[in-house]
Amino acid sequence: MNRISVKDARLAPAIGSTGVVQGWVRTRRDSKGGFSFIEVNDGSSLGNLQVIADANLANYESEIKKLVAGCSVTIEGTIKASGGGKQPTEMGATKIVVHGWADPEAYPLQKKQHTLEKLREWAHLRPRTNTFGAVTRVRNCVSRSIHNFYQEEGFLYIHTPIITASDCEGAGAMFRVTTLDLDKLALSGSKVRTELDFFGKPAYLTVSGQLNGEIFACSLGKIYTFGPTFRAENSNTSRHLAEFWMVEPEVAFYELTDNMDLAERFLKRLFKDALNQCGEDMALFNEHYDKTTIATLEKIVATEFRRLPYTEAVEILKASGEKFEFPVEWGIDLQSEHERYLTEKKFDGPVILYDYPRTLKPFYMKCNDDGKTVRAMDVLVPKVGEIIGGSQREERLDVLEARMAEQHLRAEDYWWYLDLRRFGTVPHSGFGLGLERAVQFITGMANIRDVIPFPRTPGSAEF
Ligand code: 4AD
Ligand code: MG
Repeated sequence: MNRISVKDARLAPAIGSTGVVQGWVRTRRDSKGGFSFIEVNDGSSLGNLQVIADANLANYESEIKKLVAGCSVTIEGTIKASGGGKQPTEMGATKIVVHGWADPEAYPLQKKQHTLEKLREWAHLRPRTNTFGAVTRVRNCVSRSIHNFYQEEGFLYIHTPIITASDCEGAGAMFRVTTLDLDKLALSGSKVRTELDFFGKPAYLTVSGQLNGEIFACSLGKIYTFGPTFRAENSNTSRHLAEFWMVEPEVAFYELTDNMDLAERFLKRLFKDALNQCGEDMALFNEHYDKTTIATLEKIVATEFRRLPYTEAVEILKASGEKFEFPVEWGIDLQSEHERYLTEKKFDGPVILYDYPRTLKPFYMKCNDDGKTVRAMDVLVPKVGEIIGGSQREERLDVLEARMAEQHLRAEDYWWYLDLRRFGTVPHSGFGLGLERAVQFITGMANIRDVIPFPRTPGSAEF
């Protein structure tokens, strides 16, 4: 039998075709005229397919009239023009097979509305809701656009390791990876002998693929990584995850302005694709979560991003007359209230801040001649804040060695990274986009835990 997705079955060209639709029942309504309407969803689209089940079907009384939300079904039939209502088509069923029942007393999604917080407790069932179906399809669209964008621009996709011995961001917030028997060690009271551990030295889950990415950029030119990254910081905010996905392009011979151009072009492509390819899902977010979502994205796609040195941003914040919880001084790490003022009140759109104080940023960023700032850039967007962090990299061996010493990093741990500056060094730049922050921004979802299938946050790794 010809399998038809609900998505295709709902479109006019499907009219007249015969086949099977397979999915989960959303609702059943019995008509007085001796037939039932069943709404079926299979994940291919937000909208359901309306199925008409006639009373003369063999299992009409015994099964069909007992269908409730959550039951799984295979339905054979023919797609017809819809008699009325919202959708252009419906399916006239000739046979309905029930695969699994869902006891309405026990099935959590029987009730129509649950809070997003409540749904997080059912991460195994929430993909069956309209909201998480829509989030999942938008996340898929963004992932596809990421690859399409870089592939079309001639970048090579590099798979960088998840287990690493080096701390890219220098923040020390890393998960340790070990095969040592911690219980036994604790009981014995003996010291940890890392030389006996699996890798013969301390190893961690990576916080970023950048350092490995630089190796390939400094050999093959234009590359990107796209994979999971891990941060062990104890941040319980609506924008932080302990495990998230990051896209990191890295390009040889790129200076900071090239990097900004790439970031802007890239983000606009992601936003445009989501608007064009996920219209139905985007309409849901716009209607139920944030009425400005679509208009904001459309405006951003059409306008140039504001670019502003950190020093000027600090002056703007100081002159703003706003009462900030954290007072602004040159040298401070900007807080979310400051970022929001810049993107929401002052410029009403994305802002690329650059040339940050060197004390705030990791060792690998290129030092400016002023001795005070580095060629860093953060892309800030309304509501979400920092969506991209990147920089031009320090390509001068002596300056890099001095920076590492300043940050108490041991040069011998990074000998291979320094070799890139010893042999055929080049100016190069790159950045990292947090996939979840991007999906959060596109959908307007307030909490990052609601845009990743299985969020990992402090104290939470159930599913
Ligand atoms: O600014 P970050 O820390 O930059 C880096 O890791 C660089 N090595 C990237 C590079 O230049 N190749 O992180 C980059 C982005 C942030 O802007 C944010 O979008 C996201 O990663 N991010 C997080 N997303 C969710 N949860 C967290 N805990 C995140 N930390 C960073
Ligand atoms: Mg950052």
